[in-house]
Amino acid sequence: MNKIIDGEVEKFKNSIEGNIVLTCEGSYDEVEIENTFFLIKLYDRVTDNLRAPWCAIGDKTIDFGGELNLKECLQGSFLFYDKAIGILNKSIKAALDELLKETPDAIILPRIDQHHLINSKIQYLKILQEKGLISNDSQLLFPIDEEGKWINFKNEKHYQKLIEYLTLLKKNQGDPEYRTKSMKEKKKAFTDKKCVLKLPYAGSSDCVLYPEGVTYEDYRGDYLYWLAVYLHMKGNHEKIHHLGCLGFTQGIIIDRYNPYIPLLGEFRCFVANGDIIAISYSSINTGGGFGSIKSLLLKSSIKDKSDTEGYFIYEKTLELVKEAFTKSVSIRKYWDSHKTDTENLMDLLINPMGMMSRELNELLQLNCNRYDFVVNHETAFPGNGFKIMVNEVEDITYGEASYIQFGNMDKINLRFQHLKYYQEKFPGKIDELKKIQGNLSMDILSESDPFEGMNVESLLKSYENALSSGNLTSDRRKVRTSKRSSKISSRRPSSEKSF
Ligand SMILES: Nc1ncnc2c1ncn2[C@@H]1O[C@H](COP(=O)(O)OP(=O)(O)O)[C@@H](O)[C@H]1O
Ligand SMILES: [Mg+2]
Repeated sequence: MNKIIDGEVEKFKNSIEGNIVLTCEGSYDEVEIENTFFLIKLYDRVTDNLRAPWCAIGDKTIDFGGELNLKECLQGSFLFYDKAIGILNKSIKAALDELLKETPDAIILPRIDQHHLINSKIQYLKILQEKGLISNDSQLLFPIDEEGKWINFKNEKHYQKLIEYLTLLKKNQGDPEYRTKSMKEKKKAFTDKKCVLKLPYAGSSDCVLYPEGVTYEDYRGDYLYWLAVYLHMKGNHEKIHHLGCLGFTQGIIIDRYNPYIPLLGEFRCFVANGDIIAISYSSINTGGGFGSIKSLLLKSSIKDKSDTEGYFIYEKTLELVKEAFTKSVSIRKYWDSHKTDTENLMDLLINPMGMMSRELNELLQLNCNRYDFVVNHETAFPGNGFKIMVNEVEDITYGEASYIQFGNMDKINLRFQHLKYYQEKFPGKIDELKKIQGNLSMDILSESDPFEGMNVESLLKSYENALSSGNLTSDRRKVRTSKRSSKISSRRPSSEKSF
């Protein structure tokens, strides 16, 4: 097995080393940005594209060639992931150091210690859940057993449990995935308590699955059960040829199926230090391809320098939002006929999203990000009122589709505006970033205490700590106040040793 993994690690290394590119985003002719921003990207030789580096691990598929048994494939995946994360971190750090040597004034985003936080998804969702910003229905599962030990498939108990679950799931014959084409099917998926299984670090819809025959309430907190669900969906696990979405080695996210996501859509908010500067909208009614994302709102100052406070709202998109609201029986009542459409939009969505964005930024200490909001499925229950929640957070390397056509006719380069706003409005944050960025370290979750991922206070503390120059590395291991930490704690053995 080690030969296969060694080969895969070598291939991965070759695809990363020397291919981390820091792209300069500061020199547009429109207005000179005083400081120069650089974004961390990965050059993909195969597709000749630049992409967010973390996706390279998240959507990596290992070719096992059908030669290894399940246990070996799983052990191999964990081992690969640990090594791959190390390679990626090292290459990013090297590229950053090199750039800072040449261009000491460069501002590099995303802040390197925040790569894990944002791209893992599971870490920040854990924080947001504890703070009531997402639904409690979601299961955020770290690879930890009920005694608080890291999952390790050298441990026979872990492996046997997994096999037990797989045998149980095998009884579910037929298509392992449910589909929701019609409105009726979407509603039924919700009332049937269906779930969406997501693997962290992916950023690709291939790693968002819709498992048939299970509900979001099943086996709460049991990582091994949900890993079995994932493997069951992937087919014949006696002879594994390929295993992908390797983020499963870091955790699994189980969300309740939310019919408001397709029906009402997602609101992508472009946020600079907590301030929303623009929002785009996508739903089943916004069309296909690139056109599926429509500009909804823009800070007026971006279009018209004299209006520093207001928002410019794209009317056509507002019509689509209103239409979606009025079509949905459970939500229609919230679109108040005594108010104008703009007032409804502001009261129901923009103002709450603005408040939550500020709150999120307070918590996570981010700089320039995208927060994607959706209507909380709990809105469907009478008496709950209208609620929104975060679906995901993306760093400033967010994909082109979400910004290059912003405004269509206006052709506003949103990323440029995003960075420009950040610089003009928050010069203090930029000075702070300049001071610390060269000294930040990239911690690897899997190398440290299993409780760190579960303990929200220690997670939060570590992100704050990175900002005070006196304490530049994560403090996660020292701060342990979670109830579970009084139980047996084990350091995760480096996978290398366990083979
Ligand atoms: N709970 C959910 N219910 C229904 N659809 C979902 C749910 N979560 C995600 N989706 C669908 O899957 C897509 C991708 O999920 P998302 O969480 O945005 O991950 P990513 O964008 O990183 O792939 C969403 O845009 C949405 O269409
Ligand atoms: Mg998304």
